[in-house]
Amino acid sequence: MGEKLAMNGGEKVVPEGLEKSWPPITQDDIDAVVNVMKRGVLWGPMEEEVTKLQEEFAAYINVKHCLVVNSGTAALHAGVVACGIGPGDEVITSAFSFWASAQAVLAANGIPRFVDIEPETMNIDPCEIEKKINDKTKAIMPVHVHGLSADMDRINEIAKKHSLYVIEDAAQAVGTKYKGKLAGTLGDIAGFSLNGSKNLPGGEGGFVTTNDDDLFERARMMAMFGEKVVPKDHIRVYDAYLMGFNYRNNEMSDAFVRSFLRRYDKLQDLRKKNVYFLNEELGKIKGVKVPLEPEGFESSWHLYRIRLYPEELGITEVHPKRFRHAFQKALFEEGVNIREWHSFPVPGQKVFLEKEAYGKGCPWNCGHASEEAKNIVYDPMDYPNTLDMFDRSFTVIPIYPPNGLEMMELIVKAFNKVSGHLDEIVDFAKKLDMPKEHGEKREI
Ligand SMILES: Cc1ncc(COP(=O)(O)O)c(C=O)c1O
Repeated sequence: MGEKLAMNGGEKVVPEGLEKSWPPITQDDIDAVVNVMKRGVLWGPMEEEVTKLQEEFAAYINVKHCLVVNSGTAALHAGVVACGIGPGDEVITSAFSFWASAQAVLAANGIPRFVDIEPETMNIDPCEIEKKINDKTKAIMPVHVHGLSADMDRINEIAKKHSLYVIEDAAQAVGTKYKGKLAGTLGDIAGFSLNGSKNLPGGEGGFVTTNDDDLFERARMMAMFGEKVVPKDHIRVYDAYLMGFNYRNNEMSDAFVRSFLRRYDKLQDLRKKNVYFLNEELGKIKGVKVPLEPEGFESSWHLYRIRLYPEELGITEVHPKRFRHAFQKALFEEGVNIREWHSFPVPGQKVFLEKEAYGKGCPWNCGHASEEAKNIVYDPMDYPNTLDMFDRSFTVIPIYPPNGLEMMELIVKAFNKVSGHLDEIVDFAKKLDMPKEHGEKREI
């Protein structure tokens, strides 16, 4: 039975204060930002930092165009608008994502249609996509969730057959590879996030990437109030060609990202070393399922999601969700930083349940929406694989450097300790007061 669980008064496995925070900031990063401030040029669509960052990231993923914007959401919105998606048009995306993927569609007055995930990869299930295609469908937006690429060959094949755009939500996928090619080059256009939590952080920020000249020009106008972007020595005409926004980033953030990008591969190697250690060691624990990296896929490992299968341990008297909550609570008390990162399918969010985005029922009851879209019912229960994944899983946070194998060993130790107290976990699970919101009508 071993030591007493921390949740029952025992000692924590992971001592407080051991976990290092993200991102690790170096003197070079600080100098890069300070140099911008000394130069005194803080913004501009064609200034030094933004221009070089665009060139450097385009070279890093081997894409023709890169546009820096001020968030991943802005990048996706610009990508959606660049593809000409507008009122009544539909875009198919994954039920498992941060809601910004669907929000970018709504922001263009488009209508998101959701598809369940493949249980193994947790990415959009290509087998389910065609069922959601109709004559209003304009694009598929696969999400490379947690940094693992969606199955892009199958998605591109479906898109080609139905003449649809493919907009990659690569928010979590800097450095993600699919069959040797990098995310951001796998569809028609892509949006990345540079939010401070991301593997390539800029505080906030984003990239739009594409090999298509026209898509790039439209995205660039979209990010610059709808205006044409002219070189610095040309006259700005102040004429908006489309509904645009100010999606520009600032020079300080761009300088920081450039500095970080220089050591990105090194940091990714350290992150991967941590993840592969956890996969090896946690994979040995019965009832614990570690994340996959199928042949031909290379994840950026933005997040590390563990799933629990109490049935494999002969535990059937509590629902897997109850079991997971109890196990998660015990690990947390042992000092392991774990988070849920969402807890129900995106179509279960209020904006979809109530079909109310802009007010007055728009965009669903817009004159351009189809009758079917007007009557669409979003129900989280329609996504059983996503629900099951949420029931069973949580993410282990400190996989990033400078946390190293010492921290990973403690995480494994905590998992083993909790796994050695399953009777207590089950007892605790039975007594848990579980939230029943968001269509959780199933037995728990
Ligand atoms: C999958 C996904 N899409 C889109 C976004 C939006 O990015 P941002 O927060 O930079 O707007 C995020 C960020 O959290 C994300 O994880």
